[in-house]
Amino acid sequence: MQTFGSVGIVGAGLIGSGWAARCLARKIDVFAYDPSPNGETVIRSHIDNAWHALEKLGFNRDEAGKFTYVNNLEELCRNVEFIQESAPDSLEIKTRLHQQIDQITPPDVIIASSSSGLLPTDIQAGTNHPERIVIGHPFNPVYILPLVEIVRGDHTSADTARLAAEFYEHIGMYPLMVKKEIEGYISDRLQEAIWREALHMVADGVASTKDIDDAIVYGPGLRLAIMGVCLTFHLAGGEQGMKHMLEQFGPALQLPWTHLKAPELTENLIDRMVEGTKSQSEGHSIKELERLRDNCLIEILDVLARYQYSAGATNFRADS
Ligand SMILES: NC(=O)c1ccc[n+]([C@@H]2O[C@H](COP(=O)([O-])OP(=O)(O)OC[C@H]3O[C@@H](n4cnc5c(N)ncnc54)[C@H](O)[C@@H]3O)[C@@H](O)[C@H]2O)c1
Repeated sequence: MQTFGSVGIVGAGLIGSGWAARCLARKIDVFAYDPSPNGETVIRSHIDNAWHALEKLGFNRDEAGKFTYVNNLEELCRNVEFIQESAPDSLEIKTRLHQQIDQITPPDVIIASSSSGLLPTDIQAGTNHPERIVIGHPFNPVYILPLVEIVRGDHTSADTARLAAEFYEHIGMYPLMVKKEIEGYISDRLQEAIWREALHMVADGVASTKDIDDAIVYGPGLRLAIMGVCLTFHLAGGEQGMKHMLEQFGPALQLPWTHLKAPELTENLIDRMVEGTKSQSEGHSIKELERLRDNCLIEILDVLARYQYSAGATNFRADS
C-alpha cells in the first residue's frame, strides 16, 4: 500500500485541518500553508480539537507525525511527497493555485484537490503536469469519516488515481473511484437533492428546520449509515426486494413530489434557516455540537465494525 512520509496541506481551514489531523495520527509529517494572517492559529486550534476524537480512536499524540506551519508555498512544495489542496471552492482560486503549485513542485508529487464539485479537468487547465492532479473529495470531519471520492480529469493518469487511492487507504479511508467526471461527484449530488428539498419545504412554510431534521434522524438517517439508499429500498420490497419495491412505488416517481430546482435564497428563507438552527442548537456552541457529533460518530463506527459492515469495515485506529 502506498504511503508518503510527508504531506502538504495547502489551505488550512476546516477541511485542510481535518486532513492534517488524520495524517498526523498516522505518523505522517505534515507541512501546512495558508495565506490568511491567522492561518496558523486556526489550523492549530482545529487540530487540537480533533485530538479529542483521535485519542478515542486509540491514537497517541506523543507518537504523531511532526507538524510544521510554513509561511510560503515554495517551502511546502519543496518538502512534501503528496499535496492535498483545500482552498475555497472557487474555480478561479483553484486553477491559479494549481498552476502555481505545479510550477514549483517536482513532477512526481501527486496534487489532490478536496473540491466539493468542481471538474478536475478545469482545475488542471494551464498546468505543465496535469497527469498528477486528481480530486480527493473528503467529508467533514475528515479525521473520522472514511469516505473520499476520487475523480480523474481528462489528463489524470491511472497511476495517479491508483496511488492516491492507496495512500487514502493507508490513512484509514474508503476511496470511492467516481467512474465519470461529473460536477458534484456522487455524494454531494445526493446531499444536494435533500438540501434543495429541505430549503423548499422551509420556504413554503411546510416544515421548520427542526421538523426537517426530525424527519431524518428518527427514521431514514438511522438506516442510511448501514445500507445506503439502494439496499435499504431493496428491503422495502419485502421478499421480492427491489423488483416489488419499484412496482409498488414506481408510480409515485411520476408524481410531482419533489422540486429539485433550487429555491431562491430570499431574506425570509435565510432568516428561517438561521433562526431555526439557532433554536435547535439550544444554546450549545458549534464546538460543543462538533464534540457531540464526533463522540456519536465514533460509537456508530464501533457498532458497524462489530459487524464488519459498510464504514465499519474500514479501519482508522491506532492498532490497525
Ligand atoms: N466544508 C465542508 O464540509 C467540505 C467538505 C468536503 C470538501 N470541502 C472542500 O474543501 C475545500 C476547503 O473548504 P473548507 O470548508 O475547509 O473552507 P474554509 O473556508 O474553512 O478554508 C479554506 C482555507 O483556504 C484558505 N485560502 C484562501 N485562498 C487560498 C489560496 N489562494 N491558497 C491557499 N489557501 C487559500 C483560506 O484562508 C481558508 O483558510 C473546498 O474546496 C471545499 O469545497 C469542504
